[in-house]
Amino acid sequence: MIEANESAYGKLQEIRPDFAFNMSEGLYGVSREAQIPAMLELLRIPYLGSDPLTLAVCLDKSRAKEILSYHGIRTAAFTVIGSMEEFEDAKVKFPAMVKPLHEGSSKGIYNSCVVHDTEELEKEVRTVLATYGEPALVEDFLPGREFTVAMLGNGDGVQVLPVVEIKFDALPPGVNHIYSFEAKWIWDTTDNPLDIFECPASLSPNLQQKIETICRDTYRILRCRDWARIDVRLDAKGEPCIIEINPLPGVLPRPEDNSCFPKAARAAGIQYNQLIQRVLSIAMERCGLGETTVSTSRTSQLVETV
Ligand SMILES: Nc1ncnc2c1ncn2[C@@H]1O[C@H](COP(=O)(O)OP(=O)(O)OP(=O)(O)O)[C@@H](O)[C@H]1O
Ligand SMILES: [Mg+2]
Repeated sequence: MIEANESAYGKLQEIRPDFAFNMSEGLYGVSREAQIPAMLELLRIPYLGSDPLTLAVCLDKSRAKEILSYHGIRTAAFTVIGSMEEFEDAKVKFPAMVKPLHEGSSKGIYNSCVVHDTEELEKEVRTVLATYGEPALVEDFLPGREFTVAMLGNGDGVQVLPVVEIKFDALPPGVNHIYSFEAKWIWDTTDNPLDIFECPASLSPNLQQKIETICRDTYRILRCRDWARIDVRLDAKGEPCIIEINPLPGVLPRPEDNSCFPKAARAAGIQYNQLIQRVLSIAMERCGLGETTVSTSRTSQLVETV
C-alpha cells in the first residue's frame, strides 16, 4: 500500500512495482486523482485505470460537460460561478442545482442545493465559495429518475453492468429527490442501511438501450480505461443526461456499505474478489502484460490490500 502523499514518489521509485493497482486520491487540488498516475507515468510503471488527463478532466465537472456537449451528449445546461462578482452576471434557470465544481461522494451536496429563486441561489453559491474555496457549478435541475452505471473493460470489450436505480421514495418524506450528502452519509448507515437502490433497475428495453448507449459513448469520448461509474438522470422529457463520470469508482467491499460498483457486479454474478481480479486482468491486458507475469500469490496479496 502506498499512500498518495508527498513520500509516494520516493516509495514508488524504490519499490518499482511491476504493476500498480491505482485507486489513489491525493489530498489537494483539482488534479488530486491524477497525481499518482502522473508519477507512475514518469517512472514508466504500468497501472490500472484511467490516465491523469481523464482523471483530472472528470474531477472538473464543467470541463467534462463541455467535452460531452461538443460530442452531442446530453447533459444539463450549466454555468460556473467563481466569485460573487460573477454571480451578478450569471444567467440561471430555476429550479437549479448548485454544487461544488471539484468534489465527489456528495461532498457539498445537501438537500438545500436545489434552489428555486435568486435568494436561495445566492445563499448556496456563497456557501460553496466560502466552504470549499472553489467555484460553484449551477445546473438546470433534472427532474427525472436517476441511475448509476458501472462500466468495465476497454474498446469493443466494454461491459455495461446491470444498471442501478436510486429510488428516492426511500428518502425521508418531503426532502428533495437527490442523492445528497445526507442521503449517502447520514440517513444511510452500515447499521441501518437505506434501501435506496434497485439493481437491476426496472427499465423498458428502449430506456435500457438509451442509457447503455449514452454511457458507452461517454466512456469512449472521455477515454476512460478499465472501469468507471457514470451517473445518469432523466430530463423532463425522459431522456437520459450525464450528471458526472467517476473514472476512479468507489469500491467498498461489504454489501452493507451500499457501494454501487460492487453492487452492480454482484447483480451480474461477479463477486467482489472476482471483480478485483477481473479489472486487474483487463488493465494488465491493456498494458500488454500477460497474467502469467504476476504470480498467484502476488495477485492475492494485491486483492487483500484492496
Ligand atoms: N443537474 C442535476 N439535476 C438533478 N439532480 C442533480 C443534478 N446534479 C446532481 N444532482 C443530484 O446530486 C447528486 C450528487 O451529484 P454528483 O453526482 O454531481 O455529485 P458527486 O459528489 O460527484 O457524486 P459521487 O458520490 O457519485 O461522486 C446526484 O446523484 C443527483 O441526485
Ligand atoms: Mg455522483
